[in-house]
Amino acid sequence: MRLVFATNNANKLREVQSLIPNGIKLLSLSDIGCFEDIPETQETIEGNAQQKANYIKSHYGYDCFADDTGLEVISLNNQPGVLSARYAGIHRNSEDNMQLLLNNLKDQTNRNAQFKTVIALNIDQYQYQFTGICQGTITLKKNGNYGFGYDPIFKPLNFNKTFAEMDLNLKNSIGHRGKAIKALVSFLNTSILNK
Ligand code: IMP
Repeated sequence: MRLVFATNNANKLREVQSLIPNGIKLLSLSDIGCFEDIPETQETIEGNAQQKANYIKSHYGYDCFADDTGLEVISLNNQPGVLSARYAGIHRNSEDNMQLLLNNLKDQTNRNAQFKTVIALNIDQYQYQFTGICQGTITLKKNGNYGFGYDPIFKPLNFNKTFAEMDLNLKNSIGHRGKAIKALVSFLNTSILNK
């Protein structure tokens, strides 16, 4: 079975490829000749993941899945959420995004937050969604050099360091994306490959 992962992010592709069951051949967007920007214009993380998966299915005809992730900060009404990549503007700069978030939380005592990843899977005419959540808090300042995005200011629950101070294996084992991928893989193993 062939399945498109709607990404050109080599890191994500490698991570998912290593977890996907043997009976499934994973294809990237470039593998199917898709070099265009896929629209992400929905108001929710769920909506954007579904929009990307639907776009590939309807324009290219492949069974596929797409992911979307956001950081939800409780005292900011779950912002930046779906706007996480462009919180401080369309230039999509992680340093600016983190600085804006720290400024917006300056007077807040509740710094609870969660990362949410949604994976939308389209197989034949069926649509499925898988969610992975990682709860934690936003630190007062940046710590650590690993990772990307908001990693230096996100401290997962029950850990005394930020994502940016963890090695990738640990982050993946407790993180939002890893959890969503595990749910997808378990579904593929039990419901699709065993049919
Ligand atoms: P995407 O949907 O995976 O492209 O994620 C959207 C935005 O959320 C990224 O541009 C990052 O700013 C942020 N983000 C997603 N995943 C992570 C993560 O694991 N750590 C830190 N930031 C993340």
